[in-house]
Amino acid sequence: MLRIEIEPEAKTRIRRQLLAWYDLSQRNLPWRRSRDPYAIWVSEIMLQQTRVAVVVDRYQAFMTRFPTLVSLALATEQEVLALWSGLGYYRRARMLHKAAQFVAANREGNLPTTADELRLLPGIGNYTAAAIASIAHGEPIPVVDGNVERVLCRLQGWEAVGRSGAAALRHKVDSVATQILDPKRPGDFNQALMELGATVCGPRNPQCLVCPLSPDCITRGEHKTQARPRMLSKEISYALAVRTGKLPGFTNREVLLEQRPDSNTVMPGMWQLPVLREAAVPESELRMTVRHAIMQVNYYVRIRTVFEDDIPVLTTTEGRRCWVPLINAAGMALTGLTRKVLSRAHLLPVAPLEILTLQAAQDPS
Ligand code: ADE
Repeated sequence: MLRIEIEPEAKTRIRRQLLAWYDLSQRNLPWRRSRDPYAIWVSEIMLQQTRVAVVVDRYQAFMTRFPTLVSLALATEQEVLALWSGLGYYRRARMLHKAAQFVAANREGNLPTTADELRLLPGIGNYTAAAIASIAHGEPIPVVDGNVERVLCRLQGWEAVGRSGAAALRHKVDSVATQILDPKRPGDFNQALMELGATVCGPRNPQCLVCPLSPDCITRGEHKTQARPRMLSKEISYALAVRTGKLPGFTNREVLLEQRPDSNTVMPGMWQLPVLREAAVPESELRMTVRHAIMQVNYYVRIRTVFEDDIPVLTTTEGRRCWVPLINAAGMALTGLTRKVLSRAHLLPVAPLEILTLQAAQDPS
């Protein structure tokens, strides 16, 4: 395969310009204040497929509850999922937890320090291994995520290609990323390229006038990208059933929740509102509508308030059901949609950090 050579002067200029821009313009993000490989690992897993703005709060709550790898390893899966609630892609949380347990049991809680060894751990792929090794240990290895790929394609004037050409393009991108990486500050350089892709060289309307790489960029402007996959639409309805609990003396309202069976491929073990039999809800019974996007699907969700006596007639049972005190629900592994609905109905504290002050409910029954 033809090797793409970056001129030595261009390499020097790209490194100098990009790092100067990053030193001045980087966002103040909590994980940037740490060189702890565990903290970097958590942040990088959260940042995969989730926007920075969503991650910031969740990251702080997670790190307050699980400040060390061993504390994470000792937690139950339900506790971990509870702190992940709303971030989506819950498989990431399960893999992170399993890998932490593996490292606690087999490596006295110490993560390996090189990308090659990190990659051997369950749930750590090329991207995460390179991010941890370069940011925490200064290993000169490039990190290529979707943002970096877009930046480097524009820099070189390469158009996004269909699936058949994807592997060849990726090979060329990796080669450029390896050549331009600054061996003196690899962690900062990698983060700077990701940051540039997230803030300046976005998919639409790149801000070329303020871009530190514009002197070396062949595209300097938007080039054609692949069409976004079309979003599917689905309709679903849930029951919001709230009752006053039996214990006297304090406000102990309870909500009916259902645990998704472990056999479910999507969000197994997580807690949700019971599903209504009829997707259509009479206008008079409609409590709220919510739009909720999961991957390529836009869910149009209707929520109906249901009295306790009507639950068997109106809802379908998919898994274990419990009446859960609202004070406990906040600390449970709720699906993102369930947390959204309960928050909008003012039945939960909204801020994830507040969840920490509540006892995480291990078994709400
Ligand atoms: N996206 C994923 N990880 C990142 C990081 N460390 N800095 C900036 N953007 C990122």
